[in-house]
Amino acid sequence: TEIASRTAAIVQELKDLEGPLLPILHGIQEEFGHVPQDAVPVIADGLNLSRAEVHGVVTFYHDFRARPAGRRVLKLCQAEACQSMGSDAVAARVKQLLGIDFHETTRDGSVTLEPVYCLGLCACSPSAMLDGEVIGRLDDDKIHELVAEVRS
Ligand code: FES
Repeated sequence: TEIASRTAAIVQELKDLEGPLLPILHGIQEEFGHVPQDAVPVIADGLNLSRAEVHGVVTFYHDFRARPAGRRVLKLCQAEACQSMGSDAVAARVKQLLGIDFHETTRDGSVTLEPVYCLGLCACSPSAMLDGEVIGRLDDDKIHELVAEVRS
């Protein structure tokens, strides 16, 4: 398959690194947006690992997605400065409004919710990032705007 051959090229390029599995998985996620099921056996073969071992690493590290992300990706900062400005409550509110937890995608595929640890926007905490665009000073109004936007 197309996925298998693109995966094989990435494996080939990175397999001689020390500890090649994580860089390979990062490369694959960069290429496909997630780590497709079909990539797992190719990686396993290339590194002499079992499929279960590769799959275990994909699911252990929250950096990797085993499934494609939603159309939008909303990241909520959960690091210290944002914590002190109420990011827990922001996260709880967003999860409630979207009906999903971190690392989940809404059923309609509109949005994936993820935590992130500092966006360099601590002065405007609590902060978030929507598809790479940062948003600061999340208050209740902004949260509602954001949720309405990702659901539209
Ligand atoms: Fe949230 Fe720095 S801690 S932006």
